[in-house]
Amino acid sequence: MKSIVPLSPDEVKKMTRACRLAAETLNHIEKYLKIGQTTEEINQIVHDYTLRNGAVPAPLGYKGFPKSVCTSVNSVICHGVPDAVTVLKDGDIINVDVTCKLDGFFGDTSRTFLIGNVSETAKDLVQTAHQAMMKGIEAITPAGTTGDIGFEIQKFITRKGYTAVREIGGHGVGRNFHEEPFVPSYGKRGKLDRLVPFHCITVEPMVNQGTEEIIEYDIPGSLIKYYLTADGLLSAQFEHTVLVTDTGYEILTQA
Ligand code: MF3
Ligand code: CO
Ligand code: CO
Repeated sequence: MKSIVPLSPDEVKKMTRACRLAAETLNHIEKYLKIGQTTEEINQIVHDYTLRNGAVPAPLGYKGFPKSVCTSVNSVICHGVPDAVTVLKDGDIINVDVTCKLDGFFGDTSRTFLIGNVSETAKDLVQTAHQAMMKGIEAITPAGTTGDIGFEIQKFITRKGYTAVREIGGHGVGRNFHEEPFVPSYGKRGKLDRLVPFHCITVEPMVNQGTEEIIEYDIPGSLIKYYLTADGLLSAQFEHTVLVTDTGYEILTQA
């Protein structure tokens, strides 16, 4: 059995505030996601907005991660590192993954945005990633398991003709950035880890256009890796932080 300590009502309030700020940060960044923008500029905007709102950007310095946000463009699956040479171009898709630490609690959310005129196939992938996340969230019940979530995510993605990344996924979140349990994009109903009422998890499926195979790359000076699709095709992702309640769930990072 995993050692998950549920949140007190006061801690739920703090968690709610951290998650709201993370969602508002994505709302704020959306207007800057234009052709010609560098991911380094996106990083700076997220960094400043987070500090201005009394929070800390949790990625910065986390296991040596060098930036305040993850920006994953096209075939980058996740943990893309912002830099001054990655310029957004017409037709790109970009996942921006924001984690705010506010009053000791972590709110974690990401969306994949469309830049300029995006192909219908890329749009379909992005829409599928969003729907897959929602299918996973809707499978959450107080007495349920992470297998319930993974099962629904995988079923949905496979039916759409795409693949779900297995090695990386959701996680417990709250007093720490990453907690138990692992929330996979695969599984069987009723299997894997039990959910705990008044604990938070993220649901964050990564959906690949082609192969589910991934390639891992080191980030200098960091224990965090970033990942690309092995075939160079696109990958899309959405992430919400969700509170498991005694009657169901509540999405805390709602736009
Ligand atoms: N926000 C990512 C997640 O959803 C984790 C990023 S870790 C970092 O779990 F160090 F790369 F920021
Ligand atoms: Co996460
Ligand atoms: Co995240």
